Amino acid sequence: MAIMEIVKAGSPLLKEKSAPITKIDKNVRQLLDDMAETMYKYEGVGIAAPQVGKSLCAVVIDVGKGRKEMINPIIVEREGNVSDTEGCLSVPDIYGEVDRAEKVTVEYYNRWNKRKKLSADGLLARCIQHEIDHLEGRLFIDIAKSVHKGREEKKN
Ligand code: CO
Repeated sequence: MAIMEIVKAGSPLLKEKSAPITKIDKNVRQLLDDMAETMYKYEGVGIAAPQVGKSLCAVVIDVGKGRKEMINPIIVEREGNVSDTEGCLSVPDIYGEVDRAEKVTVEYYNRWNKRKKLSADGLLARCIQHEIDHLEGRLFIDIAKSVHKGREEKKN
């Protein structure tokens, strides 16, 4: 396992569309482990492979209910609309109000090449949409209704 360097906003790497993973092997499992370790180290609730410099369709999420790993995730259903505050490991100290679907259903492969389907709401649904946006080369600051400095905001 290794902690990886987080790619920050401004890097062209975060604007690229990630490539689907064609073979789920030990290199992919190692990448997922390294992404998870990096996410926990920097206290994120989600991380996408482009954020560690790998333009591949893999995300790791943990909103406090255990680690979820998604390879080649695709949102197949969306329901409702809700606005809430988001941040991102690649955009330090900036937060923004982002409209997202309230509930999503996502299909993906796990690290053992098993096809999975998950329906989510709340923070998990938001996080899934945020991470999949990274795979499309999109950051929350590209779609936020408003952004602000987090540290100032937290003093309120
Ligand atoms: Co992010």
